Amino acid sequence: MKITGGIPLKGTVKTQGAKNAALPVMAVALLLRGQKLTLDNVPDLYDINTMIELLETLGVNVKRENSQVVFDVPGELRWEAPESLVRKMRASSLVLGPLLANMGKVSLPLPGGCSIGSRPIDLHLKGLKQMGAEIDIQNGVVHAHVNGKLRGRRLYLDFPSVGATENLMMAASLAEGETIIENIAREPEIDNLAATLRCVGVPVELEGTGGVRIQGIDRAKSGRERVIPDRIEACTYILAAVMTNGHVRVEDLVPTHIDAMLAKLEESGAKFTVRKSAVEIFPSKRRLHPVTVKTMPYPGFPTDSQPQMAATLSLARGVSTIEESVFQARFLYAQELNRMGADITISRDVAIIRGVEKLQGAGVRATDLRAGAALIIAGLAAEGETRVDDMIHVWRGYEAIDQKLRALGANVELIKQ
Ligand code: EPZ
Repeated sequence: MKITGGIPLKGTVKTQGAKNAALPVMAVALLLRGQKLTLDNVPDLYDINTMIELLETLGVNVKRENSQVVFDVPGELRWEAPESLVRKMRASSLVLGPLLANMGKVSLPLPGGCSIGSRPIDLHLKGLKQMGAEIDIQNGVVHAHVNGKLRGRRLYLDFPSVGATENLMMAASLAEGETIIENIAREPEIDNLAATLRCVGVPVELEGTGGVRIQGIDRAKSGRERVIPDRIEACTYILAAVMTNGHVRVEDLVPTHIDAMLAKLEESGAKFTVRKSAVEIFPSKRRLHPVTVKTMPYPGFPTDSQPQMAATLSLARGVSTIEESVFQARFLYAQELNRMGADITISRDVAIIRGVEKLQGAGVRATDLRAGAALIIAGLAAEGETRVDDMIHVWRGYEAIDQKLRALGANVELIKQ
């Protein structure tokens, strides 16, 4: 993507359906037999298409009409996930729980790491084993099976892993008896999954103590649910407006889902108002104050907005720090931002960001989805021209980002390589 920066963004942008909610709720289809799951507000993203391809490989008939997707599930499903698809997207690990619960067996190549960390699934496998699954890993492929049904029981997550929470909630849906999982992830995507499980007939109760109680059922029924707005995409456009000192309304979002981000923006002196389902950013005469950020599981500051926040703070008036406590290595983008004149030094899991007056356009490379987003918003604020290469990462999670930015007055152009 080629960006000519320095133009304050102006106008209204609507948030897409959440990628990280759509992926798990699509996997709910694998709990069905001879039934249909209908999902509304499904975003049109590379990762969504990969998950659709994976579900089709497993035997599900998928029909997409704009943002509605219907999953027509046959009486029998295949239970082997192909390496080619699993390696394309780590979230493929979300087929483990539902397939094992529904078919009694599943073979899934280990997803492997990516540029933000090793991304193990040990917590997923530990929980499934505790529910009675036999798990064997041969040549990088997880083979799991269970004689009869998985057994409901009390489970405790050593870390509130989003993926482990989702896999185990789906596994518990067809298990024998009741499952209680403690110390689960509290991301809004988990509520969306709970609602989707309920809509196919699974009694799910989320408890305030950070636990969930699920009664296993025999057969899931057809159901329909809506994907929640993408809180991370919304934050990206909010920060783009702040960085370019523009006047933008970001609509179709749930403000409470981004409380941590809004609190930090208020602390830094950004000007905005929060409405029922929108945030409106106003230009400000002053540069942002520096702030201290630490990423945490929800409701803490979201790790998925960490690179975009670092880009924004690279123009603040002073020294900010961002501590990344969720992933091992999520600072690859910092070197790229420094090529644009930012002054970021990384020491272990902390980024020290010395604010500069201006960024200059440069040739940079997206190393992962959110790093790419950070470089794009930096390019929008920088003087001159920025080229962001390896946009494939960005298409995984940002629907029509070039069109949305052009509609806000940005000068962006896609270069076919
Ligand atoms: C989900 O990944 C999101 N992906 C990630 O978004 C997001 O960054 C992450 O949650 C945290 O919010 C989807 O929802 C598809 P975790 P997930 O399990 O489930 C460690 C994006 O940019 N861990 O909560 O993989 C793990 O290594 C993506 O949209 C284990 O050690 O996140 C990591 O350090 C990036 N063992 C930490 O926990 C396990 O069994 C958080 O992982 C599982 C996780």
